Amino acid sequence: MPRDAFQDLLPSPRILLGPGPSMADPRVLRAMASPLLGQFDPEFTAVMDDVMELCRFAFQTANARAFPVPGTGRAGLEAAVASLVEPGERVVVGVSGRFGLLFCEIAERCGAEVVQVEAEWGRIIEPDVIARALARGQTKLVCMVHGETSTGVLQPLTEIARLTRAHDALLVVDAVVTLGGAEVATDAWGLDVVVAGTQKCLSCPSGLAPLTYNARAETALERRRRKVQSNYLDLGQLATYWSPDRFNHHTAPTAMVYGLREALYGVKVEGLKARFERHRLHGDALRAGISALGLTLFGAEPPAYRLPMITPVIVPEGVDELRVRQRLLQDFGIEIGAAFGPLQGKIWRIGTMGYSARRPNVLLCLAALEAVLRREGWCAAPGAGVEAALAYYAAAGDAALETADNLGAGGIGRY
Ligand SMILES: Cc1ncc(COP(=O)(O)O)c(C=O)c1O
Repeated sequence: MPRDAFQDLLPSPRILLGPGPSMADPRVLRAMASPLLGQFDPEFTAVMDDVMELCRFAFQTANARAFPVPGTGRAGLEAAVASLVEPGERVVVGVSGRFGLLFCEIAERCGAEVVQVEAEWGRIIEPDVIARALARGQTKLVCMVHGETSTGVLQPLTEIARLTRAHDALLVVDAVVTLGGAEVATDAWGLDVVVAGTQKCLSCPSGLAPLTYNARAETALERRRRKVQSNYLDLGQLATYWSPDRFNHHTAPTAMVYGLREALYGVKVEGLKARFERHRLHGDALRAGISALGLTLFGAEPPAYRLPMITPVIVPEGVDELRVRQRLLQDFGIEIGAAFGPLQGKIWRIGTMGYSARRPNVLLCLAALEAVLRREGWCAAPGAGVEAALAYYAAAGDAALETADNLGAGGIGRY
């Protein structure tokens, strides 16, 4: 393209209801447009202090270490595994979807002996299978995905955390999709390392991976000091940058740190309980509407194992999976997600995360899906999805809606 053919960048406004990114909170975007500060400017280090304190709040932890790794969620996962594991050490990974496989790949590249503990995609990993794997050899890490975005499954962790500790191993948890949208009780559940991402329930653009780890993990990191192959993703070095020492590591991605600060502040203002309830409410309203359209939800029985913020929907026979997504995007400006691996072409994944988890988005999505599916020959009763969701909201009552529609007691933003 000749140079003068370039034009201003004007991306279309979209309703982002895929498995990530979610829609950014406008306050986050506003914060990201603030003037840049130097990374050792006391005003900026004060922002870093806010971020660490707010990370502790979101992760529900008193850990000294709670800060973001530069890079997307995957960078945080890689930093955790690469900084803790030495070549030849045993790593047990729970695999029932794409992100369990990602843990395996990262651990393999670190030279670990990887033991995959598998469950069918759409199911949880039972603790007794992890117990059997732990009993078969001395293990350094157990890696578990809390919210398996690829299948919509919420993995219980407390029993696995207990087993891991009893075998003197460390539990590393992928909470990329759950932090800020569902309970992630780091200390109460006994999780050693927890890694998140910014672009899902935190409603910030992708680019940082908030994480936290406890004293047990810190001791293990100490033993690996200066031995971690990656300089950029060396958690020990990153931790001294995110500490009063401000050890010079990378140049802070200032605008991203502003954005994360504002995103986490939004979580605090809304309150954890209200935020989790909002995600549950809108996810459940969507699922009521999906069922009323005659569609079937994939996996996760009983519903307690269902991720509140990701709704996996089985593509009906004779319906073109890709064409439906294309029409939703072109005609309605709505993005929903496809699937991976054995589920590719078989399910859609609809995300109601962070700023996207709002009543108008749920209702628009159901109306649009009904219209698009009709063109594919899948004819639900007109308005059935929207009506079912509205009925769900009505049954939830005014109090639930009021909490869900207001961002915090001050009502400074509406979902
Ligand atoms: C559960 C889970 N883990 C890890 C990742 C990877 O995160 P990122 O794409 O931010 O690197 C994702 C992203 O979809 C995810 O859903």
